[in-house]
Amino acid sequence: MADKKQLTTEEILALARKQAAGGSSSGGDAGASEAPASETPAPEAPAAEQPAETPPAESKPSTAPKSTADILAAARAQKAGGGGEAKKPAAAPKSTADILAAARAQKGGGGAPAAQAEGGKPKAAPSRPAAAAASGERPPLKEMVSAVKQAQAGKAPPKVPSRAAPPKPKLPKKEPITRRSFFGALASITITPFALAWAAMGTIGVLWLLATARYMMPNMVLELPSKFKIGPPSDYPPGTVSEKYKASRGVWVVNTDQYDGRGMIYALLSICTHLGCTPNWLEGEQKFKCPCHGSGFYITGINFEGPAPRPLERVGIRVAEDGMLEVDKSVMFQEELGQWADPSSYVEVA
Ligand code: FES
Repeated sequence: MADKKQLTTEEILALARKQAAGGSSSGGDAGASEAPASETPAPEAPAAEQPAETPPAESKPSTAPKSTADILAAARAQKAGGGGEAKKPAAAPKSTADILAAARAQKGGGGAPAAQAEGGKPKAAPSRPAAAAASGERPPLKEMVSAVKQAQAGKAPPKVPSRAAPPKPKLPKKEPITRRSFFGALASITITPFALAWAAMGTIGVLWLLATARYMMPNMVLELPSKFKIGPPSDYPPGTVSEKYKASRGVWVVNTDQYDGRGMIYALLSICTHLGCTPNWLEGEQKFKCPCHGSGFYITGINFEGPAPRPLERVGIRVAEDGMLEVDKSVMFQEELGQWADPSSYVEVA
């Protein structure tokens, strides 16, 4: 047992793991327990040499140490200083602020003093996003997105021309002239107490002049002439009543022989002798009928029913020089006064 060398901690741990995993070695077999120890990789090598073969534990910061042996080996390697310079942990992913700073440094064309970061990475000149990042502030999201896109595209953001259009002079708005606005403006100018007084005085003066002019003119009634021609006697056949001049002249022209047996043409005034209404000629009943109170008159003009107190009146009629019948309303003939016997009240026909 004297030639048996003393096991290191690492070897002890390796043996313990093997026993726990395989259980192949029994407790009484000491030789068997030594064999696995000889199979372990470089069991006799000094602990200080192990870090040269195995990668340093600090090169993989993301993975946890596998076992206590590894931890110990790493510690020893550090202590011995043979492990070489430990690698720095991988650089953290770039933040948006860093990307912005890099983009701005590119945009500046490298004119800004760029400091070399650790590991040779160029560092952009301190800018607003970088300063904001340094101070803990975050730039606006829009700016960040545009800067990231430009950085990814590898081109500088386009320069926006800063030439601004000159401001247009503001002209007063012209409102359209409407009828209401026109008369409103006119009224605001003209309707003043002074103007109203003058307008009233002028109106009164004009009215006074008109009244004076009317006073200077004679009073007269504009009527049609009382004498008018009604055509030849042949236009009025026997036994007929013509209403041709009833509306315009107010007379009927009658040709009959029923008054005294002689054929004659006379003109009857179309005014009821009761209260002055205008009777109608009823051809079927051969009579004049007043619509107001029902007075009736024969074709001769003699009243026979209703309140009319006397016959209709005749007007003057004659044959003019030209052979036309001429009626004269300026003269009247009443039957109750015996005036119908006047030759001026009729024209005798054959
Ligand atoms: Fe003709 Fe009275 S007015 S009947």
